[in-house]
Amino acid sequence: MSALAEAEQAAAFVRGRSKLRPVLALVLGSGLGAFADSLKNATRIPFAEIPHFPTATAIGHRGEMVLGTAGDTPVAVMNGRVHYYEGYSPAQVVFPVRVLGRLGVKILVMTNAAGSVNINCKPGELMIITDHINYMGINPLIGLNEDQLGPRFFDMSDAYDPKLQEIAERACSKVGMTVRRGVYIAFNGPSYETPAEIKAARTLGADAVGMSTVPEVIAARHMGIRVLAISCITNMAAGVIKKKLHHLEVLEVAEKVKLGLLDVLGRVLADAARLQ
Ligand code: HPA
Repeated sequence: MSALAEAEQAAAFVRGRSKLRPVLALVLGSGLGAFADSLKNATRIPFAEIPHFPTATAIGHRGEMVLGTAGDTPVAVMNGRVHYYEGYSPAQVVFPVRVLGRLGVKILVMTNAAGSVNINCKPGELMIITDHINYMGINPLIGLNEDQLGPRFFDMSDAYDPKLQEIAERACSKVGMTVRRGVYIAFNGPSYETPAEIKAARTLGADAVGMSTVPEVIAARHMGIRVLAISCITNMAAGVIKKKLHHLEVLEVAEKVKLGLLDVLGRVLADAARLQ
């Protein structure tokens, strides 16, 4: 079955579970599951029930789609995502984004945890992604193009929507969170990078490093979906300071930033809905 047919089948299943037609979606990284609790008239659908859906396995990822309204805006919140390092194919990693696109989502807001490559950016701060470097050696669109999803060749100059970046920056300053803008580089993981790799990433122009987001952004842009992505800086990347990396530390910092980030997301959502 083609990727399009599978996405359509999954979208049809979701439409059957809820009358809500989301125009905006949030794909939330580790520990941000609480955001969905603020939605009104929520319908929760475990990923495992949706046809063809990959199930999230990483610690801190819940694995469900929640449809509901935030203010007047119908939204879909994805609690959890799958990563390429879990062994899913690139097409499986972006499958949820394609389903969201088929459901009618026009704006995709993503969060992730990232290490700072830039010495000026500290754990606990947020970084609005302005651009990315795909260092994963894969692209989810390799293979036959599905013309009904999008064109074979497409522009990635404004992959991260400038208007949405402004909205996010305003929201962060209202909440009082330190925020920067910068370039995200995606490595495959699951091992954290070596100090030499981080040095190379800095030379290439990256400010933050992570193991997600880039495939989904590519698939979203293929479908013409506008994207906002915010990194929660959880640690200094390898070798930036003399300290070893630990996943628990990443989760701890993400937990501390959580309330502020949830507040930011709520404000972003209210403003972004007006862009429609
Ligand atoms: N590297 C890659 N992914 C990450 C990091 C990191 O330092 N921190 C959180 N996710």
